[in-house]
Amino acid sequence: MLQFLMKGGTPLKGEVNIGGAKNAALGILAAAIMTDEPVVLENLPDVSDINVMLKAISDIGAQVDRLDRHTVRITAGSIHTQKVLFDYVRKIRASYYLIGALLGKYKTAEVALPGGCAIGARPIDQHLKGFHALGARTEITNEGALHAEADALVGRHIFMDVVSVGATINVMLAAVLAEGRTVIESAAKEPHVVDVANLLNCMGARIKGAGTDVIRIHGVEKLHGTTYPIVPDQIEAGTFMMAAAATNGDVMIRNVIPKHLEVISAKLLEMGCTIQEFDDAVRVCGNPDKMYTNVKTSPYPGFPTDMQPQIATVLALANGTSMITESIFEKRFAYVEELNRMGADITVCEKGDVATINGVKGLKGADVTAPDLRAGAALVIAGLCAEGYTSVSDIKYVLRGYEDFDVKMQKLGAQIITVSDEKEAEEFIRRTGGMEPLEPAKEA
Ligand code: EPZ
Repeated sequence: MLQFLMKGGTPLKGEVNIGGAKNAALGILAAAIMTDEPVVLENLPDVSDINVMLKAISDIGAQVDRLDRHTVRITAGSIHTQKVLFDYVRKIRASYYLIGALLGKYKTAEVALPGGCAIGARPIDQHLKGFHALGARTEITNEGALHAEADALVGRHIFMDVVSVGATINVMLAAVLAEGRTVIESAAKEPHVVDVANLLNCMGARIKGAGTDVIRIHGVEKLHGTTYPIVPDQIEAGTFMMAAAATNGDVMIRNVIPKHLEVISAKLLEMGCTIQEFDDAVRVCGNPDKMYTNVKTSPYPGFPTDMQPQIATVLALANGTSMITESIFEKRFAYVEELNRMGADITVCEKGDVATINGVKGLKGADVTAPDLRAGAALVIAGLCAEGYTSVSDIKYVLRGYEDFDVKMQKLGAQIITVSDEKEAEEFIRRTGGMEPLEPAKEA
């Protein structure tokens, strides 16, 4: 029973270094197998989603050498199968990038269908639309895998019906070695989409327009090896910005691209926090009298859906009533129930897409469970603000996307550890001053 256990009340202070972006690295790992030459990836986050992808790439025959904790060399000339049917692959959503990469390189692919967080239906119809447009045939196999193959892949003008990060990256992967020109309209513009395109261009691809609504790809004969540093993680950075704001701390968040954080900074400024931007760092100072604000998640450069649970936690402690509209996923408020158990006052409308948050003076520690990756991080932030002790269970979700989350928080002064049994929990509670005595029962 792995849990985060924390004692709230300490404002976070100091500096934190942000790692490479998980959601860029997952697409980049798939792209790396599209050449037989070595690809060295630096600033790779050491998180479970990445390690699952590395295992899958190795298990189909690629040479995977970890040069240090955050640097890996992939040499894919030895891949001996285009079937990725390992059960462990179903644990992560981004396994589907291997379909685009294997299809693009070998004209055939068969990959166990993705799992991922329970934040909505998460269909893959736009991925299939792109593959079909390029000339591929696809089918779902009896083993619950997606099989894709093509005699040839020929560039086409593709109009996406939905702005999709995954589909944009997957179609890019399938198109870089196709014949002729591919245009992707209504492309996703997230920093991690741009990073995958940049890596592919470093490998000899000809992609223009990544980061805009229209991506143009001229197919090339083959790709070559390269060395590439993964872009800093916009969402990890934003998570620490919210933690600094929620605990009324003062934190310098280093190794970031401030431009990628502008909409997050803007919301914190609306709430009355102080933000200082530097070349590759952002400093956030919280404000005990935070003001309410309204948030509507939308594709980049809008407010990221992956930051929605975290800002809800900050707004739970602001003055006034805030509204959060989740416009990307249908089920991304599962954490609200857990926050309310800590004393928050949040209601979610019947349709499930709008949360109304009445700010409260404080939260109380409780035993809560992480329903998904970003909600888990938000519950840790809530625990760091709450009075008393909070345990967050099911932290396997958090470990999918945050490297050394507890250690980084400890370095900022947080009283938080990872515990695996009751004994460790009791020891931590004893060491940090013990539970406050229960209020004597009032005379009837
Ligand atoms: C990526 O998921 C991220 N995951 C998610 O982050 C992130 O929340 C999401 O993009 C949006 O930014 C990875 O990169 C591994 P989408 P993805 O396709 O690609 C609908 C995290 O916390 N849609 O942009 O699956 C879909 O249902 C994770 O790190 C279709 O309808 O998201 C959703 O409503 C959680 N058909 C919307 O588009 C499709 O074929 C956006 O989804 C594909 C998507």
